[in-house]
Amino acid sequence: MRVLVLGATGGLGSALAHLLREHTLFLSGRRSLPLRELAEALGGTPLPGDLTDAIEAKALLEEAGPLDLLLHAVGVAGRAPVRETSRELLEGMLSAHLLTAHHALRYARLQQGGRAVFFGAYPTYVRVPGFAAYAAAKGALEAYLEAARKELRREGVHLILVRLPAVATGLWAPLGGPPKGALPPEEAARKVLEGVLAEPPPEVLEV
Ligand SMILES: NC(=O)c1ccc[n+]([C@@H]2O[C@H](COP(=O)([O-])OP(=O)(O)OC[C@H]3O[C@@H](n4cnc5c(N)ncnc54)[C@H](OP(=O)(O)O)[C@@H]3O)[C@@H](O)[C@H]2O)c1
Repeated sequence: MRVLVLGATGGLGSALAHLLREHTLFLSGRRSLPLRELAEALGGTPLPGDLTDAIEAKALLEEAGPLDLLLHAVGVAGRAPVRETSRELLEGMLSAHLLTAHHALRYARLQQGGRAVFFGAYPTYVRVPGFAAYAAAKGALEAYLEAARKELRREGVHLILVRLPAVATGLWAPLGGPPKGALPPEEAARKVLEGVLAEPPPEVLEV
């Protein structure tokens, strides 16, 4: 398979990339040094870029070429009470989750039968005080995918939303570290791949 992992420099993306090393692998992230090191270790092609930037996103997705599997393991987290949530924080959160996903889908060349995978959260875990911006971004992503799925199905392309529990990655760094009981990223990645590569492909996978 031709596989592109977006967010490969992150905890989940890196674990997914390690499990997919047998495939023709394209890896993306913003930080080019760790991205290059990972690509070298796994024999993949590094495609650095900021996916909120349409020009960078288009260029890197065109360079990746036709894909059988796209994994969008991209995002940021942050906690702030509503009255301290600036416009920048809210827009940044929406951009990191929704706009990056939109650019990925807009510019990816997914082959017939191809799958594109996006990561959401369980609403009851994130629709809680302090997480309005993150919860809004994940809710928007889910709604976007529900409509886009129906559109891309006509091309034989499957969109999959994965709802993850807490996974012990760097996403939690701004929140003071992962909660007790968070899944190791390797275990989460194994469960994700087992589920998203199943036949028929699921629309929503709950890990
Ligand atoms: N960890 C959890 O508990 C958990 C739970 C539910 C859902 N999720 C979702 O799972 C996905 C992966 O999260 P993770 O835990 O692996 O987080 P992570 O370790 O913080 O990794 C996030 C990745 O996103 C990349 N990224 C962020 N903004 C970007 C942008 N504008 N353009 C390109 N790349 C960008 C980062 O790249 P650089 O590091 O190179 O900047 C990094 O590779 C996210 O969507 C997250 O919301 C995670």
